Amino acid sequence: MDQRSSSRRKFLKQAFQLGTGCCAAQLSPSITHGFAQGIAQTASSSATTNGVKVYVDTRRTIAPLDRNLFGSFLEHLGRAIYGGIYDPASKLSDANGFRKDVLHQIRELGVPIIRYPGGNFVSGYNWLDGVGPKQNRVRQLDKAWDTIESNQFGTNEFLTWCKAAGTLPLMGLNLGTGTPEEAAALVEYCNVEKGTHWSDLRRQHGFADPWKVEHWCLGNEMDGPWQIGHMLATEYGLKAADAARQMRYVDPSLKLIACGSSGPFMRTYLEWDREVLEQCYDYVDGLSLHRYFGNNERDSGGDTAKYLALNLSMERQIAETVAVCDLVRGHKRSPKKLWLSFDEWNVWYRTTGGDAVDGHRTEAPQLLEEVYNLEDALLVGGLINSLLRNADRVKIACLAQLVNVIAPIMSDANGLFLQTIYFPYCWGLQFARGDVLNLLVESSTYEVQELDHVAHVDVAGSLDRGEGKLALFLLNRDLSKAHDVEVVWEDATPARVLTGSLLTGDDLKASNSFATPKKVAPQSFSAPAASGGRTQFELPARSYTVVQWSL
Ligand code: AHR
Repeated sequence: MDQRSSSRRKFLKQAFQLGTGCCAAQLSPSITHGFAQGIAQTASSSATTNGVKVYVDTRRTIAPLDRNLFGSFLEHLGRAIYGGIYDPASKLSDANGFRKDVLHQIRELGVPIIRYPGGNFVSGYNWLDGVGPKQNRVRQLDKAWDTIESNQFGTNEFLTWCKAAGTLPLMGLNLGTGTPEEAAALVEYCNVEKGTHWSDLRRQHGFADPWKVEHWCLGNEMDGPWQIGHMLATEYGLKAADAARQMRYVDPSLKLIACGSSGPFMRTYLEWDREVLEQCYDYVDGLSLHRYFGNNERDSGGDTAKYLALNLSMERQIAETVAVCDLVRGHKRSPKKLWLSFDEWNVWYRTTGGDAVDGHRTEAPQLLEEVYNLEDALLVGGLINSLLRNADRVKIACLAQLVNVIAPIMSDANGLFLQTIYFPYCWGLQFARGDVLNLLVESSTYEVQELDHVAHVDVAGSLDRGEGKLALFLLNRDLSKAHDVEVVWEDATPARVLTGSLLTGDDLKASNSFATPKKVAPQSFSAPAASGGRTQFELPARSYTVVQWSL
């Protein structure tokens, strides 16, 4: 076994074991009010009955919703690309080798932006290996996942696929083994029309029109000792600034994201972000955050009641990272406010070691094929709510990942099925539109160690003024009790309920598979019409619900 990957895996394993220990210790009750609007919004959290009140005032909003808040991620990892979205030998593929069923599902979902090609993969990736005639492309050892990379799918294939899928690329750059010059060359290859070395190479490769890729990630998790090319924060900050400078010389219209901390489990959490930004603040537009949650010893102690509250710790991470961005802004006296790109988030804790993360030098091995259950889907619903509530600073977020690898969509040779986490993600994409509402929610609470008083019912909402549609997203974290909800329409009462869907069940550990693809599936939820400026309904225990009204 490759010694470096083995130590990377050891580090990750330790981090997975120790991670929230460190995070949890920081979650002192005295400051919980500051980190989560999810908690702040439970103003009268001392309510003792199980009645919940949601006050909606359409004049009170948090921010316009950037659709990129519901992006996703496809890495050259396991069966995400090969056997996932691309499989030229499959009867289910089109002339480009794109899996038609997978493409159709992603188009239907309406994913606005997809991060590519990694992830850990990108830090050892030479983009030149993945362009030009396919028969000349070299097979390489991907050291990040110990996998053989055929390079049959590369930049042009991905950008062609994005157009077919109706999505935009969020391109990752190699700032591990790659240089700022190579990063700028890729921008020139993708975005310059013609008449330069790299743009003419693209044209020779058969792509006359520039791709005009706008969003770029300057490296991946460069704070992590597992990362190829890992370096100190100041070194990375200088490298990111240089890459950004060279890239902007090629195309000044780019939106650039510096690589922030890999999560609160890192010893260098926040200090990394500060040092990086001290070097590159003026050159970038956003800063990345990553986070994976688990119902395990590290994160929840295996306690589902706590697990379902972990979206609040995502909000704390956002608040802390925003604070660092604004601290450096102050140091620099900069007029510019950075936004955040939460470009990896999900549940991931089962497939984190051994063969699940080691390709053993094979092509398209089964890696990170996490099986999601009902409780995972409920937490993903909560995480969607948290992202919505932070839409004023988080402008991009990517559910990591999209197909086969820690994914909502699973494919095999004969078709696909949808994992439980697909549904809350799909509802966010479908129903969260326009402005995010600043709701006032009164809910009873329960005690969670390190998270203090946690509301039983967590609510987020959006309002599309143009379309006259309003949606509420409600997580009932109570494992045993239904809760009565009263929505108080403070300034505008909806005319009628357009649609409602609910995810719940008796078995929190139930999951879908090719054999039982509908074991966990949404049910329709009928909320009654408003009467006297109020709407009342009951939320079942252990549930995530979306209701959409017309105004
Ligand atoms: O998404 C899986 C991996 O998680 C990514 O490659 C890496 O960036 C993160 O550690």
